[in-house]
Amino acid sequence: MAEFEGKVAIVTGAAMGIGRGIAEAFLAEGACTVLADIDGAAAHATTGEIGGDEGKYLVVECDVAKTDDVKRLIDATTAEFGGLDIIVNNAGIQPPGSYLKVEDMPEEAWDRIIDVNLKAHYLTARFGIPEIRKRGGGSIINIASVQGLQSMSRVSAYAASKGGVLSLTRQLALDYAAEGIRVTAVCPGTIDTPLVEEAAEGTGAGLEELKKTWGEVHPIGRIGQPSEIADAVLFLASDRASFITGEYLCVDGGMMALGAWAGSPADF
Ligand SMILES: NC(=O)c1ccc[n+]([C@@H]2O[C@H](COP(=O)([O-])OP(=O)(O)OC[C@H]3O[C@@H](n4cnc5c(N)ncnc54)[C@H](O)[C@@H]3O)[C@@H](O)[C@H]2O)c1
Repeated sequence: MAEFEGKVAIVTGAAMGIGRGIAEAFLAEGACTVLADIDGAAAHATTGEIGGDEGKYLVVECDVAKTDDVKRLIDATTAEFGGLDIIVNNAGIQPPGSYLKVEDMPEEAWDRIIDVNLKAHYLTARFGIPEIRKRGGGSIINIASVQGLQSMSRVSAYAASKGGVLSLTRQLALDYAAEGIRVTAVCPGTIDTPLVEEAAEGTGAGLEELKKTWGEVHPIGRIGQPSEIADAVLFLASDRASFITGEYLCVDGGMMALGAWAGSPADF
């Protein structure tokens, strides 16, 4: 039997990139999967491309930073599938125009990044946990970043949001451990997604050349693929991770093991 048969999972930001990879993996393992995305058309197109059994997926167009949208997402999920077991908070933004020192950062840009990348995790937990409780337990997996652990220049809001996600992960894990609701996080290194392609656009360099250069700062020697994040997420969501909560897992080709101070792996 597929590992997640009978389970219901919400994946936010599922239309593309890492979220799409996670949704595809849940569908392949039999979960009823809700693809929640601000870009409803792209999410519908994704379901056509990644397959999945009819009646096993639902697209909900929503902005995860908005309270009413998240309430509607949870309601639509339980109305369609009868409950909720797993939430993957994956939607996140790092707009190319936001790479600024904090004194140049417009307040609206700061607020939007914090709202999408951090407040949304509060909203899905607030409205989703009562439903997960009804199932006798479940799992929340937050997609943070290596930038929540170490930083780079000109990413104040993004780095703050991802550090906040890791802290919230620990905090929620403590509050809900006794109820069998495990809360964990994944910290990806650079992953081959539209977000990275968008970041590359501003540099003027060729995309493939940039991916190679970025790959070189990962000891494994390349950037990662969405399916490699999905593998970690499905493990954390599964009973195989039944004694893991409040913890994060770096899926970063060894980047955090290397340490920012050490320079490039080529130095070794
Ligand atoms: N790609 C990387 O290198 C990388 C590295 C570390 C962490 N991450 C994190 O992984 C997550 C996914 O990143 P990605 O690279 O796949 O991004 P992406 O930009 O390729 O895809 C993000 C998806 O989220 C959706 N989305 C954006 N704002 C939304 C909102 N307000 N409500 C609902 N959906 C929304 C987009 O429409 C899109 O489908 C993010 O949280 C990101 O910070 C990515």
